[in-house]
Amino acid sequence: MELVPAILAKNREEFIEKTKAVAPYVKRVQFDIMDGIFVPNKTWGTMVDIIRTWRNLNLKIDYEVHLMVLRPEILIKIFVKHGAERIFFHFEATKKPQTIIDLIKNNNKRFKKKCKIGIAINPGTGVESIEPYLKFIDSVLVMGVNPGWSGQEFQKTALEKIKQIKRLEPRIEIGVDGGVNLKNAKEILSAGADYLVAASAIFESKDIKETIEQFNLLEAE
Ligand code: DX5
Repeated sequence: MELVPAILAKNREEFIEKTKAVAPYVKRVQFDIMDGIFVPNKTWGTMVDIIRTWRNLNLKIDYEVHLMVLRPEILIKIFVKHGAERIFFHFEATKKPQTIIDLIKNNNKRFKKKCKIGIAINPGTGVESIEPYLKFIDSVLVMGVNPGWSGQEFQKTALEKIKQIKRLEPRIEIGVDGGVNLKNAKEILSAGADYLVAASAIFESKDIKETIEQFNLLEAE
């Protein structure tokens, strides 16, 4: 099982500090991008700031992006161009999911590294809403909390959604984000999640390296 740290940062310093703290122990990180509109919280910087800072860190790991923004279409091109491994946009943030899927696909044709296409769903959104799109995408991010902040409690309705998605389209990679910790991780993996995304369970732990290692040892039952 793979653990992907969520990098939720208020400023450049926090972004650098968190990214550097986990980079030696993981294959990739997930950038949390919040616009203060789709979710009440706002993360730091412009996209150019984020990409430039990431590149200057010169790390040998990948990144994916979790766009908690309205009008995600305006951010797609820059992240595809700059090598994001995967982009998640929120189903709730757009009236035209297919347009965004096609935008990632079309941008992929222009750049060497192909970016995976992902949809994120909030706790209140049922799998039936995204069912028509599953055949066009690679991944789903099932949220265990309403996005906006770290440190909220995991909502168990996510577990049934993971199973439903796997029944409908077994090929889809499922990430689970929000409220994931060492206590509930096994149950989430056993429901069928392919990887877990976490922030507070990692960054508020006493020993980041040891915590990530403990997560990585967990397997589905
Ligand atoms: C939801 C964000 C999550 C969040 C996870 O607001 O998308 O990635 O940072 O934080 P924890 O793991 O603390 O719930």
